[in-house]
Amino acid sequence: MTRKILVTSALPYANGAIHLGHLVEYIQTDIWVRFQKMRGHTCWYVCADDTHGTPVMLRAEKEGVTPEALIERVKSEHMRDFGGFLIGFDNYHSTHAPETREFCELFYQRLKAAGLIEARFIEQFYDPVKAMFLPDRFIKGECPKCGERDQYGDNCERCGAAYAPTELKNPYSAVSGAKPELRDSEHYFFRLSDPRCENFLRRYARQENGVLQPEAANKMREWLGAEDEHFLTDWDISRDAPYFGFEIPGAPGKFFYVWLDAPIGYMGSFQNLCARKSLDFDEFWRPDSNAELYHFIGKDILYFHALFWPAELIHAGFRAPTKIFAHGFLTVNGVKMSKARGTFITAESYLAQGLNPEWLRYYFAGKLSNTMEDIDLNLDDFIARVNADLIGKYVNIASRAAGFVVKRFGGRLLAADAALPALCAIREAAPGIAERYENREFAKAMREIMALADGANQYVDNVKPWELAKTPGREAELHAVCSNSLNLFYRLTVLLKPVLPALAARAEAFLRVAPLAWDDVETLLPAGHGIQTYAHLMTRIDPKQIAALVAANRESLAPVAPAAVNAGMAEENEARAAKAAVIGIDDFLKMDLRIARIVEAAHVEGAGKLVRLMLDIGEEKPRQVFAGIKSAYDPVALQGRLTVMVANLAPRKMKFGLSEGMVLAASGPDDAAGGIYLLAPDTGATPGMRVK
Ligand code: 2FM
Ligand code: ZN
Repeated sequence: MTRKILVTSALPYANGAIHLGHLVEYIQTDIWVRFQKMRGHTCWYVCADDTHGTPVMLRAEKEGVTPEALIERVKSEHMRDFGGFLIGFDNYHSTHAPETREFCELFYQRLKAAGLIEARFIEQFYDPVKAMFLPDRFIKGECPKCGERDQYGDNCERCGAAYAPTELKNPYSAVSGAKPELRDSEHYFFRLSDPRCENFLRRYARQENGVLQPEAANKMREWLGAEDEHFLTDWDISRDAPYFGFEIPGAPGKFFYVWLDAPIGYMGSFQNLCARKSLDFDEFWRPDSNAELYHFIGKDILYFHALFWPAELIHAGFRAPTKIFAHGFLTVNGVKMSKARGTFITAESYLAQGLNPEWLRYYFAGKLSNTMEDIDLNLDDFIARVNADLIGKYVNIASRAAGFVVKRFGGRLLAADAALPALCAIREAAPGIAERYENREFAKAMREIMALADGANQYVDNVKPWELAKTPGREAELHAVCSNSLNLFYRLTVLLKPVLPALAARAEAFLRVAPLAWDDVETLLPAGHGIQTYAHLMTRIDPKQIAALVAANRESLAPVAPAAVNAGMAEENEARAAKAAVIGIDDFLKMDLRIARIVEAAHVEGAGKLVRLMLDIGEEKPRQVFAGIKSAYDPVALQGRLTVMVANLAPRKMKFGLSEGMVLAASGPDDAAGGIYLLAPDTGATPGMRVK
């Protein structure tokens, strides 16, 4: 039976680059989709950029462009990166699109008509300088529990305490530095606490053969509580202007919250595909649809997909997802991806270094299961595994046989020995491997496929074609053995194709066969079949390439220097000769100089010379730098201006906190007397630009 399947991956935010952490999900989804397509099912894979919200708005402002221009640029970068990793979306759209707007309005109308939207006044922090309400992550202050400074509005990075932004001590706006005020504003809520939502969600979560994985179902039980408990709270779906998003009909100055329109963006993208391909949208979305709907997501956004989204869908007259597949996070070498370690690796840099995307696809496949467990990219293991499995076991089978067939037998094959155990083993294992793919147990599938490849290599090792080739009179045997080998390779290619689509395409060209479908694993290349001359299918990973990749992604090179070294640094600086020694360009290029915006400047209590600067250089969080410029500058006058910072100076622990770089200023031999002059770029420079 041909199934009708619609698949999505989470929509990436339009304010950042795709990195290896994102790719776990897109690669996982893509493998699954390619598998379904190879099985002959109708399977559509759609995605889009998640474009709305405050961070996109502020970033556009910082870059001096419109949000529309920013999201357009980012979308093309995202599409380039996804294409580079062979993610085969059937449609890649944007939430900032008419289809998504229409669906948002329709959801809103229908939920409102159902009595599930409620307007309510709430008190929120407001930035009087920027004239905007502040999302939690744009409010900082001192942790109410441990007093740590510069903590975000929702939890403390030092002691882990969770709190409301209103509990922060000495709160300030991370946008302007201003002291926020509490203000009232009317917001719209989706009434998740309504018994209709709660009852539906209880039934939905309990559904037979699980909408959710066991760990996710547990989470869901936690969120829902026992039958007599009513834990669900209403969900604020509106935001005040200024906001980049869709204005709520009939509510000027109020916008749909980005998390309302993001999942609706799945529908928008699919609608856009339907229009282009004349597909029937309703067939997939009407309440009684027999099509299957799957969302691949990270475990961090389960709440949105397992609670809000199905409840919204059902009450807006649509169907709920068939299943939600949540995966864990990516660690690199056992720890969180880190810019300092060079393991916060962007998709772009991976491709720019000339690394083969299918190496990563295979490695991730070899790690992925259907649980929410985190997966680790160990870079040494990556090199070893890819080289051993893909080159050593799989590609090797073809390269060992192809030369003889082309040189000695005119490129023609004999009929394979259909009873050859290694060949039968592959055919017999295929249904089990299909089940692994279906259940997203890719690691198990890869292990089983590599065991079959081991069997194939053992066959070649036993029959030793290279010896047959040297022995006169054994040509027929050599021909048969090589024909068997290429049939082994042919069948293994079918099994690996969902993971390695480009390699499979090269193999198909080399074997001169039409694009392989799953059932081809049952077939063999016919007698007399002609192949192409063998050209390299895949190269090995050179460890140097990985070292270069890490170096290219390393941002703040050195770890915090030992205290003893730091203690002497100030004197050393002062004693430095007026004229520095001659250096080569290489030495100069070691310095990572960046345009920085001073987003905050403050006096440092107890420090005679220092000003504490918060510098935005386009990173996630501003950097803190203590600069000895107090004699020349009033902190207030510094706020908002651009300067130049050394971004890869080893962070330095000072009495007042960590100094994460240095700003550049000109001065005479005697700072105080001659004055200090902070450098400033010409108009047009933006934070994060490299100075060279
Ligand atoms: O967490 C994120 O990156 C969100 N942009 C995911 C949105 S998924 C969906 F709901 F659209
Ligand atoms: Zn704390």
